[in-house]
Amino acid sequence: MADEIKGFIFDLDGVITDTAEYHYKSWQKLADEEDLFFNREVNEQLRGVSRMESLEIILDGKEVPEEQKKEWTDRKNSYYQDYLEEITKDDILDDMEEKLMKLKKDGYKLAVGSSSRNAKKVLKHLQITDIFDTIADGHSVENAKPAPDLFLYAANNLGLKPEECVVLEDAESGVEAALAAKMKAVGVGPESRVGKAHLVYANVGDIDFDEILKKL
Ligand code: G6P
Ligand code: MG
Repeated sequence: MADEIKGFIFDLDGVITDTAEYHYKSWQKLADEEDLFFNREVNEQLRGVSRMESLEIILDGKEVPEEQKKEWTDRKNSYYQDYLEEITKDDILDDMEEKLMKLKKDGYKLAVGSSSRNAKKVLKHLQITDIFDTIADGHSVENAKPAPDLFLYAANNLGLKPEECVVLEDAESGVEAALAAKMKAVGVGPESRVGKAHLVYANVGDIDFDEILKKL
C-alpha cells in the first residue's frame, strides 16, 4: 500500500555513486604488492561487504595473522581515501540528486544505509549530506549486512517502523538485509544479483519512484 511508505533508505556505493571502481583499484594495488590473487570478478563479490570481510573473501581461506590483516585493510583504505579526494558532485549517478530532492519536497524521510566507514566523507564530496535526515554507516552497528541491524538503526533514527521504509540496494547482501528487516526492497542491477528484491531496476537512471509508491 503506497500510503504506508514514509521513508527511503539509500545504500551509497552503487546506488547514489559508483565507488566500486575505486575500491577495485585500491584492493588491486594491495593485492599486487602482497602477491594475493585478485581481479574484477573477485571484486564483484565485495559489493556491500565490509572492509575486513572483503579481505577475508580475497584471502579465500588463506591464514594470515590478525595484525597483518589490520595493516593490509588500513593500507587499502589509505589508497581508497586518496581516490576519494577526486570525487565531486559529478560522481552522483544519473539524476539521483533530482530524485532525492523530489522525495524530500514530497515529505518523505531520507536516510543513507551504507556499510562503508567512509560514507560521510563520500557524501561530503558529493555535496548532498544535508538532503538526508540520518546517515547510518559502517560505524553505526556491529553486525554488517546481510544482518538487518544497519537498516533498523536508520529507520529508528527516522522515527519510522520498518514496514514504512523502502530500501534501495545494489548488493545481494543489502537486499537480504532489507528483507530481514521486514522492509520493502528495491534492487538496482541484474536479476542474478538483486532478484530477491520486491522490485528491480537495471540501472539507477531507470528507478521510478512513482512506480515504487504505487506497487510496494
Ligand atoms: C560498501 C561497498 C563495499 C565496501 C564497504 C566498506 O558497502 O559496497 O565494497 O567494502 O562499503 O567500505 P569502507 O569504505 O568502510 O572500506
Ligand atoms: Mg552498494
